[in-house]
Amino acid sequence: MASVRRVDHLAIVVEDLDRALAFWRDALGLPLARTETLPEQQAEIAFLPLGGSQVELLRPTDTESGIARFLAKRGPGLHHVSFEVTDLPAMLRQLKARGVRLINEQPVPGAGGSQVAFVHPESTGGVLVELCQPAAKPRRVQHGA
Ligand code: CO
Repeated sequence: MASVRRVDHLAIVVEDLDRALAFWRDALGLPLARTETLPEQQAEIAFLPLGGSQVELLRPTDTESGIARFLAKRGPGLHHVSFEVTDLPAMLRQLKARGVRLINEQPVPGAGGSQVAFVHPESTGGVLVELCQPAAKPRRVQHGA
């Protein structure tokens, strides 16, 4: 049976990364690990790790993406909470069998080679929930192999 391991990240949509970093990095003191532009999500993302989890600041880079439409409709704010699960396809089957409304019935590619799927807020108490399974760690290369 698939299970939830930890909170992977909190994703917050922002209009202006520098302004958001003035709080999250400069005032609150979270380290900024890196920023990455994800063409498939039409967003620039700042990753601020914290205790095995991280805060992700998402800034849309176009006006048509889901993130851009969220920002236009609802303004900046919490976009989703992501939980790492042990076996994403199995977890999706478990949830579906219980009548949970899934946005993605099959995993889709996420950041850093991960697989992700979203659960509809209607089934979660109003929060967009992302389930993720990180990329399998590459095998250690054997010396002399
Ligand atoms: Co996410």
